[in-house]
Amino acid sequence: MKKILLLMLLLKTSAIFSQNSIVINADLGKDKISKQIYGHFSEHLGRCIYGGFYVGEGNTKIANTQGVRNDVVDALKKLKVPNLRWPGGCFADTYHWKDGVGPKKDRPTMVNTWWGGVTEDNSFGTHDFLNMCELIGAEPYLSANVGSGTVQEVSEWIQYTNFGGVSPMSKWRGENGREKPWDVKYWGVGNEAWGCGGNMTPEFYANIYRQYATFMTGWTNDKKIFRIASGASSSDYHWTEVLMREIPHNMLEGVALHHYSVIDWNKKGSAKDFSEEQYFQIMQRALLMDELIIKHSTIMDKYDPDKKIALVVDEWGGWYDVEAGTNPGFLFQQNTMRDAILAGATLNIFHNHSDRVRMANLAQTVNVLQAVILTEGEKMLLTPTYHVMEMYNVHQDATLLPLNLKTNEYAFGNEKLPAISASASRDEKGVTHISLVNIDAKNNQEIAIELRGVRFTSVTGRILNGEKLQDHNSFESPQQIKPSVFKQATISGTTLKVTMPAHSVVVLELK
Ligand code: AHR
Repeated sequence: MKKILLLMLLLKTSAIFSQNSIVINADLGKDKISKQIYGHFSEHLGRCIYGGFYVGEGNTKIANTQGVRNDVVDALKKLKVPNLRWPGGCFADTYHWKDGVGPKKDRPTMVNTWWGGVTEDNSFGTHDFLNMCELIGAEPYLSANVGSGTVQEVSEWIQYTNFGGVSPMSKWRGENGREKPWDVKYWGVGNEAWGCGGNMTPEFYANIYRQYATFMTGWTNDKKIFRIASGASSSDYHWTEVLMREIPHNMLEGVALHHYSVIDWNKKGSAKDFSEEQYFQIMQRALLMDELIIKHSTIMDKYDPDKKIALVVDEWGGWYDVEAGTNPGFLFQQNTMRDAILAGATLNIFHNHSDRVRMANLAQTVNVLQAVILTEGEKMLLTPTYHVMEMYNVHQDATLLPLNLKTNEYAFGNEKLPAISASASRDEKGVTHISLVNIDAKNNQEIAIELRGVRFTSVTGRILNGEKLQDHNSFESPQQIKPSVFKQATISGTTLKVTMPAHSVVVLELK
């Protein structure tokens, strides 16, 4: 009996002190982590465009360039935003681009039926968006109206934005102040065609896609455009199966996937006042991304074994109740350390599937859902999610390093999640970066990292952490959460030892 008790005690003790371990083959790696997975999304929704990006040319209180906030542009430049999706979302399938070009005073209004029923005056249109992308240094990703538009409308939009020769649309573009085409590469063929984009069946949409895609070429000055099919919602694998089977692959460059981390669509919970249980539930939904990518990729592999077609996760992020007193149709929510953990873990998942996931867009950039920037009149703040995306951008276009992770469990009640999420890459200068997330809400985690194939002599790092998971940046205290120097990593020979505080995100640089 004594012996059994001793054994039990020993087992328990070893569990408490058991260590996370990672093996990284630092001299290997073949897939590139496409920088396009660091894309963002800007919809005509709430205060994303109006008040967020755009304050109008006549605004004398907020510094702007052609009506676009300079503070937002500067912040997004630092973030190295590779692409920006516009004008929706659900809004895109109600949007008629011709209403948003030409003299602003002559532009017709419309009603934004999806988001708050507000009047849209079309003052922010194609020129405003594409010129803004040039300011930010991001590639535009236009979402074409398939739900309520026409093939001709989409075809003429491409002719307007991309055609360098003489044509009715390129002539009109010149008359509206832009001679040179913008050469827009990324085009979404509708959005959520299974829902707000037309409530279509996958078979019907696949046929519609073929029709639209046919007339989307011919205007691109020999530059290939990248057409993205409206993809599945979370685990709708049938949708992906039908698209991959029915759409000829020479007409398809990407297939989308939308997955939001939401506890319950009828009971989402507060963005900033939440329990550990709600944190755990959100992380369960967020980490599901790994399984979703594996299963959608398996279907894609069956039809496209050479992985020519990209999986484009063009809407992802946490979705909570709107902040008290704000318009429910505007989807304005605060952003805490919970969202930083969600972002860090999701980006690690994307990295580790970089052979298939080659583009993604966080929803949404400013003032909507898991935003990286919040504005209030003249004020602007960067959210914890912003800081994670900035710390992580060292991985953009770097080579993914294969790693093997053995992680402790983070338990809540009877359920368990991995405590640690990790990914690693080597950039073109030969510098290696490791991004680590301690998902555990309560415990520090020690990680022993074995570095194989390369002899490193120095390690530096940055950490994002807060005392509480609920910590966030507010207009009263905009710097509450920001990255700081991380000193809990030491290298000795081929072993790197790291101690991470509970609920923290760390990026290490090894030379
Ligand atoms: O991002 C908010 C909305 O969520 C988008 O408009 C839509 O595509 C999705 O359902």
